[in-house]
Formats: sequence, structure tokens, C-alpha cells
Amino acid sequence: MTDILLTGQRAVVTGASSGIGAATARALASAGAAVVLTYRSSEDEAETVAEEARRDGAEVHAVQADISKPEDCARLFDEADRLLGGVDILVANAGVQKDAAFAELTLKDWQTVLDVNLTGQFLCAQEAVRRFRDQGIVETSAARGKIVFTSSVHQGIPWAGHANYATAKGGLKLLMQSMAQELSREKIRVNAVAPGAIKTDINKDVWQDDEAEKDLLKLIPYGRVGVPDDVARAVAWLVSDAADYVVGTTLFIDGGMMLYPSFRDNG
Ligand code: BGC
Repeated sequence: MTDILLTGQRAVVTGASSGIGAATARALASAGAAVVLTYRSSEDEAETVAEEARRDGAEVHAVQADISKPEDCARLFDEADRLLGGVDILVANAGVQKDAAFAELTLKDWQTVLDVNLTGQFLCAQEAVRRFRDQGIVETSAARGKIVFTSSVHQGIPWAGHANYATAKGGLKLLMQSMAQELSREKIRVNAVAPGAIKTDINKDVWQDDEAEKDLLKLIPYGRVGVPDDVARAVAWLVSDAADYVVGTTLFIDGGMMLYPSFRDNG
């Protein structure tokens, strides 16, 4: 097994004050990357993640940004330029859930989820691509730049009570693929990870409740709920040269959730 090496590379990880983003910022830093991690409002948590990520000696900064706003995305990448001297990797991870039965879903909650989970990813990716182009290819990476989106199994699995979330993730799938098709000839690699149920704040109501967790496990053939490091390790690999020929792919990290286990003894 090749050790993942990101020495000399500079990464932006959005939505990294907790959960998958936090684990990813730590994983990239421990592989040798310099990291700017973002948070929207949880400054103390983000600073703690940055401190932990610095333990292996990497340069890590926490920067506030609401990535659904174009001016914040531009400022974020200016900051990354100033602090790290450029950007080679974007992990566009920030995401929210605002759940409601379809007829009760407010326009505000529809819009917020689309703004953060889809438009925000687009805005950050656009900033990253423009900067990759200006920068040219750096010695420390085979590709000119790498982008990984955090999608979800719900880019493919419809989700009652979560129409806004599933719509955003479904859109993200085609955003990722369209970008990969357009940009790979410039040696910009665009991919996604699609986590299933991972123990984070977003779904703690489910995995912290024994009965609800038991029901959830029926959907996971591998028999456990995932943890943020399950995803972070995959992201570190995807952005490394070890995955240099991986282009336009969604890597599902879901304990087999996409295998529709309810069909195992039915259908
Ligand atoms: C959602 C979680 C959910 C998982 C599996 C994720 O994208 O954010 O809340 O547990 O999908 O349904």
C-alpha cells in the first residue's frame, strides 16, 4: 500500500469545523498538505480542528466564510493565496440539511439547502478552477488541480422528507461530471465522494437513538454506521497522485447502502 503523500500541496477544505470536513482537514494535513479550513459560524470548533491538524507539523489556518456567497468565496481563495501561496486542492464539503415533508417544505429551507449544497459548491469550484489556471502545474502534483465534492448516496437514492437535500445532491453529481468532462484536458481532476450514513452532527438524531440506529443499520449491509475518518481517508487518496487517473468518478463510501439491501429477501 502506497502511503498517501501530499507534501508541498495546498488545500482548501470547506465546512470543516466538524464532521467529515474536520476529519478531512486533519487527514490532508497529516499527509503533509498545508490547509485552509473554513467554518461559517463555529469559530472555536474550527480553531480546535486547526490546532489538532497542526500536530503533525502542517501549516493549517481556519478562515470564516459563508460559501453560499460569491464574495465570501472570492475572499476565501484570496486568503488561501495570501496564507499558503496558492491552492492545489479544493474539498468542497460544506453542506446542510433542512428536513420537511414535501407539502410543508418552506421556500426558505428549499433555497438555503440549494444555496449551500449546490450553488456554494459551484462558487468555490469556480474560484478554484480560475486559480488553478493562473497558477499552472506545480512540481508537487501530477495534476494542475484537484477538486473533490462531498456528495451523498442521495445523489442517486430518492429521499422522502428531504426533497431539497436530494435535489441538491443529484445536481451536484452532474455538476461534478460536467466539470470533469470540460476541465480534464487541462489536467484538472474533478471527482466526488458520496458518503452514506456517517456519524456526524447532521444525523445525530438517528445514530444516537438506539431504535433509530437499529432501523438505519437495516440499510447498511456492512453492519455499522460510518465515521468521518472513513470518508477522510478516501478523500486524501482521491486528491493524491496515487489517484491521478481517477477522473469524473463518484466514490461511494456507504457500507453498501447503494446496494439496496431491502431487496436482499424481497422483490
Ligand atoms: C445524510 C445523512 C444520512 C445519509 C444516509 C447523508 O447524505 O446527510 O443524514 O444519514 O445520507 O441516508
